Amino acid sequence: MTEQIGFQPLPPWQRTDYCGTLRPSDAGRRVALWGWVNARRDHGGLVFIDLRDREGVVQIVFNPERSAKAHELARSVRTEYFIAVKGEVVLRAPNTVNPALPTGEVEVMAEALEVLNTSLPPPFPIGEEQQITEEVRLRYRYLDLRRPRLQRNLRLRHAIARATRAYFDELGFVEVETPILWRPTPEGARDYLVPSRVNPGRFYALPQSPQLLKQILMVAGFDRYYQIAKCFRDEDLRANRQPEFTQIDVEMTCPTPEQIMAVIEGLLARIYRDTLGISIKQPFERLTYDEAMERFGTDKPDMRFGLELRNITSAFAGTEFNVIKRIVSEGGQVYGLRLPAQYQLVRRELDELVTQTQSRFGLGLSWAKLAERDWQGPVAKHLGAYERAKCVEALDLEAGDTLLFVAGPQSVARSALGEVRLSLGHKFSLCSNDSLCFLWVVDFPLFEYSEEEKRLVSVNHPFTAPKPEDLPLLESDPLAVRALSYDVVLNGEELGGGSIRIHNSELQLKIFELLGLPREEALKKFGFLIEALSYGAPPHGGIALGLDRIAMLICGTESLRDVIAFPKTQKAVDLMSGAPAEVDPSQLKELALKLV
Ligand code: AMO
Repeated sequence: MTEQIGFQPLPPWQRTDYCGTLRPSDAGRRVALWGWVNARRDHGGLVFIDLRDREGVVQIVFNPERSAKAHELARSVRTEYFIAVKGEVVLRAPNTVNPALPTGEVEVMAEALEVLNTSLPPPFPIGEEQQITEEVRLRYRYLDLRRPRLQRNLRLRHAIARATRAYFDELGFVEVETPILWRPTPEGARDYLVPSRVNPGRFYALPQSPQLLKQILMVAGFDRYYQIAKCFRDEDLRANRQPEFTQIDVEMTCPTPEQIMAVIEGLLARIYRDTLGISIKQPFERLTYDEAMERFGTDKPDMRFGLELRNITSAFAGTEFNVIKRIVSEGGQVYGLRLPAQYQLVRRELDELVTQTQSRFGLGLSWAKLAERDWQGPVAKHLGAYERAKCVEALDLEAGDTLLFVAGPQSVARSALGEVRLSLGHKFSLCSNDSLCFLWVVDFPLFEYSEEEKRLVSVNHPFTAPKPEDLPLLESDPLAVRALSYDVVLNGEELGGGSIRIHNSELQLKIFELLGLPREEALKKFGFLIEALSYGAPPHGGIALGLDRIAMLICGTESLRDVIAFPKTQKAVDLMSGAPAEVDPSQLKELALKLV
């Protein structure tokens, strides 16, 4: 029976080399390899196998004159069989050199072959770059991971983690692991809950981030902490969001925001140097939140191109353009941008932008083209001489340019035009992947008002310290209070965010109160933090960067799924294993849980 299965627990010989590393200097050496059959070509007299391992592919030649047995066996192998080969490295004849392969100047003349495992025909070719639906790739993730692109991505990811650890180690930071089974603490997203069998009716939550634990580590005297930390958030997923992701989490005692920013700039420089050999310019540019919103309509502007927004409300002070007149009279604002003459949109493209803006933001997008003699477009006739002159002045418009503008409540109007700006940037390929525009956005508001919850909510998280000069506004005008916070942005993607924290228990309770969490309730939920802060907590602050996002940008992909070994789909499913899965009723019973 076992003979029929043909199970061989160990390879017959140890490997001497990786397939992909053989070069002309190896000619004459006897090597032992193992790997997967990338392709096999049977030319009757000779059989060729391209053998692949993690370092690449090399051609193996089976000549019956060298070994009749190996040649015979080679004829029977199929793609993705896992085989072991012994043979001699020889130089290829000049006319058979394959310049497309790093090993293309040599081949291995096989002297022995063992088949260590067979394979079903793979659902997609492993060795070739082909468009395969992501569903199939995720279903057979182990085959997808065998492909060169994902091999490269995960090794770059490893290099990022290695550079991170080396960097922080050199700066005297200590990596501390914090628990995965932790207390549900509302932090913005929904928690993943884990029932406790020995405490029926009680739950752990998987950490959304180690935020409070790292603060407590500062109280505990660790002074400089970092961790490559797994985080879990039950939120709606997008290409740049996974339910389970990894942060480079950092906290320091008594830092200034400038010191934290300098540490992080150094980290990113080290990562880019060690992975891609690129040196990045420091210090990074800085914008305040207000400036970012005003000029780009977003708190994570892509600075690889201009097309900046301008507030052109004053141009419409006396307008007869009814829609705008009404919006402005209700306190709304008008934001415009200039699309220079060299970038021309046809009517259909403009209509698409109008529809997109309407459906995403509920606002109209207006446009007019400055032709030689007159302004063209559906709204041109509504724009009087004064508005035209003012728009020209505010946006430096010239003949051939297109003016695009949106009117509405300030925050919505500029966000909407910010999106239009991004669409234009992509449409006209202004976002070159070769440029790296790092940026700090600072001075976020501490609070915003949630229409949904009818209360103040934290823009960052409730542990963020207000700017000292804004403290007097906490009671009188909380929405005007700015935070001691900073986000780091690369090419329009938020890489990370952090802040100086509140280390005073009374101020922390005050902030909770402003967020609608009265003292008793706050003590019930966050008593452990308040208590810890009461034992000589030093001032502290930190930041967390999304490691997956950094990896995504370094690998030049557009999805986190390309840099995570076993990612989840938009519906938070692992297509390979089928997680999440149903469980046995007895397991539920043990946990004192009932499904409804
Ligand atoms: P924040 O919530 O901004 O801050 O998260 C920090 C960074 O983590 C990454 N990130 C994600 N990456 C992938 N998928 C997700 N679902 C996801 N959510 C966040 C982003 C983000 O910038 N405790 C604070 C940090 C601090 O104040 O020190 C925090 O977690 O790159």
